[in-house]
Amino acid sequence: MDKILVTGGLGFIGSHTVVELQKEGYEVVIIDNLSNSSISVLDGITAISGKKPIFEKLDLKDRPDVEAFFAKHKDIKGVIHFAASKAVGESVKEPLLYYENNINTLVYILKELKKLPEASFIFSSSCTVYGQADEMPITENAPVKAAESPYGNTKQIGEEIIRDTCKVVPSLKAIALRYFNPVGAHESVNIGELPIGVPQNLVPFITQTAIGIREQLSVFGDDYPTADGTCVRDYIHVVDLANAHVVALERLLKNKNKANYETFNLGTGTGSSVLEVVNSFEKVSGKKLNYKIVGRREGDVISAYADTKKANDELGWKSQLTLDDAMRSAWHWEQKVRGNK
Ligand code: WQD
Repeated sequence: MDKILVTGGLGFIGSHTVVELQKEGYEVVIIDNLSNSSISVLDGITAISGKKPIFEKLDLKDRPDVEAFFAKHKDIKGVIHFAASKAVGESVKEPLLYYENNINTLVYILKELKKLPEASFIFSSSCTVYGQADEMPITENAPVKAAESPYGNTKQIGEEIIRDTCKVVPSLKAIALRYFNPVGAHESVNIGELPIGVPQNLVPFITQTAIGIREQLSVFGDDYPTADGTCVRDYIHVVDLANAHVVALERLLKNKNKANYETFNLGTGTGSSVLEVVNSFEKVSGKKLNYKIVGRREGDVISAYADTKKANDELGWKSQLTLDDAMRSAWHWEQKVRGNK
């Protein structure tokens, strides 16, 4: 079966995707520099699939190492590229770190893929490219707006680099997957989200508050023009998201793509407010969550949820798991990581 490279394969979405690739019989090679992940994730993946992926600790910023890797693995048929820095706030403080780590590395990988007789490339992009979209739900034709952060800008630039390369390299086919909000964990609780330090994202902050690591969840604003005043997002279960990557890769491997470069929004198609997420968590966990309403967070958009028609009809993929499924799995994972408190 084809050999697939997963960069950032020990990360949150990467590790769940490796498991789904292995389930489909692919041979997986993981590159990760362990800057935002733990080598223990490799054991978690193996515990689920029974197959240990090939792992190479490598920093994609080191171009000679990237060249040597591809010289060693000439039989790679596809790449799913997750490796990138992804903290919005940090990117504002450290733009050059983000442009180097998210852009240079993409260029180095594409230069290697250009040398192969053919290559399929899946790019981890984000709904952040839409900024505050004018219409809900958001389709792939919604205008890409001026990025609100260097992180978001690296996703926009990354898509443009891939699009321009595919135009002149006929052997390269690519799909950019624009994620909405990935949440949850694998039902086996062998892998899940492992945020380092204080979580920036809502769901890990909820589970860490519930288990007692954080004192209280701050809900950033309840004066937005939404049903309950809190921001609305499209929370997609990470296992559904992982499956979408396998489906997208197979679209390219089996030459079912309609163009050399395509984009797909990956969400559930349903918007959920912050308070609806809190209520879902309390329902599935049986825990009362300690939270308070505070001021708005700089840079938050009011509402973002996906129009899933293109992914459903053309990609042949639809999310299967619910918000409750995601919150339940996130809670079980938190309990496992913290020793079942
Ligand atoms: C969701 C909602 C917050 C924390 C970001 C990136 C996006 C993608 C996913 C990488 C918002 C509210 C949050 C908290 C809160 N990342 N919130 N209290 O900002 O939609 O998206 O993560 O690809 O690119 O932009 O996700 O989880 O940070 O916030 O009230 O302690 O929860 O205001 O409304 P976001 P998030």
